[in-house]
Amino acid sequence: MNNRVKMIDGVLNVPNNPVIPFVEGDGIGADIWAAAQSVFDAAVNKAYNGEKKVEWLEVLAGGKAFDKCGEWLPQGTEDAFKDYLIGIKGPLMTPVGGGIRSLNVTLRQNLDLFVCLRPITYYNGIETPVKEPEKVDIVVFRENTEDVYAGFELSSEDPKIEKVKSFFKEEMGWDIKGETGLGLKPMSKESTVRLVREAVKYAIKNDRKVVTLVHKGNIMKYTEGAFRNWGYEMALNEFPDQVTKDPKDKSKILINDCIADAFLQNILLKPEAYDVVATLNLNGDYCSDALAAQVGGIGISPGANINYHSGVAIFEATHGTAPDIAGKDMANPSSVILSGKMMFEYMGWLEAAELIEKGVSTTIKSKRVTGDLASMMSGDVKTVGTKEFASLIIKNM
Ligand code: NAI
Repeated sequence: MNNRVKMIDGVLNVPNNPVIPFVEGDGIGADIWAAAQSVFDAAVNKAYNGEKKVEWLEVLAGGKAFDKCGEWLPQGTEDAFKDYLIGIKGPLMTPVGGGIRSLNVTLRQNLDLFVCLRPITYYNGIETPVKEPEKVDIVVFRENTEDVYAGFELSSEDPKIEKVKSFFKEEMGWDIKGETGLGLKPMSKESTVRLVREAVKYAIKNDRKVVTLVHKGNIMKYTEGAFRNWGYEMALNEFPDQVTKDPKDKSKILINDCIADAFLQNILLKPEAYDVVATLNLNGDYCSDALAAQVGGIGISPGANINYHSGVAIFEATHGTAPDIAGKDMANPSSVILSGKMMFEYMGWLEAAELIEKGVSTTIKSKRVTGDLASMMSGDVKTVGTKEFASLIIKNM
């Protein structure tokens, strides 16, 4: 099939009519996906005059999958993401109980999507908790497969816990007392290097000035501290002509590091000091949401989970299924729309990506927005429904 995106010799090869699988998502998924698809098709059509067109392929996951085939994440869906390389998804409800893991985490782990990419920028018109939100323009590369999120966790009630505790006592001299749950925090050199390498490559390609390694290596020396050391080592060894540790050398990208708690202070006090950030899984989770809140964008921030080696990438809305407003034409589709913008950038369809950016930023600036954004604005604001918001984005491209 020649309408598949392929990875050839490490380079993504995108045909003019690529098949792109999508998961509509649960709750507001149907509302926001319909809106987003109309925006994507309009942007591609406007950018390429019919020369390029996405062939959307619906695949199932979440509640819709469970209703239709009795499984939350059918194998066919995972296979489609693997075969077609690029996919996009709306939010999925996490089934409660029954030992079912988060579907998002399962996809990230099974497809080894080792980077969680979260660009955070301010959109003019939104009122935010900080005075100068426009100073935030930060791209977070969060390691997606290790750290305390790897899933190595034992309940205090698990019969195996005593075995583990006595192993640590006898072999390591570590006395773990009382009724205790236990988790492992693996951080490998391999995962660190592949993550930081992509952050540096991104900085080079996008003319960024600084890459900051965010870690708690002062306390967790052999996991977070090792992340810092391996990150520096890789960047300076592999990119000696482009990267420096010397802040006075303005001809190169500066690589530096910051302790995670100081980072969370600094993004409020001097956000302009940060540009591209590479960090571990848990830090990355906290930092990307804190940054998104800072620009008033917690509901509109886009995201992607990417394996830059296999090429497999899933772009996704970062908010949840918002069951309270599902089916009411009230949901804000910006998160999945801006994730689509990232997807077109990844595909090299930059003209379509630019049109989406222009459509979204102009519409937000005009203050004709969905209720969630309207509540964060003052002055001449008009609340519009999901469908009308999408039409305005298309009109403003
Ligand atoms: P949520 O993000 O669905 O909702 C929190 C609040 O934000 C609600 O008041 C909701 O109406 C509002 N909201 C969220 N997205 C919105 C949008 N696009 N436009 C307007 N308002 C929006 O978070 P909650 O309630 O904690 O989770 C609901 C379900 O979503 C759970 O099953 C959870 O596991 C799942 N979830 C899925 C995620 C994903 O698939 N990436 C991420 C977060 C939660």
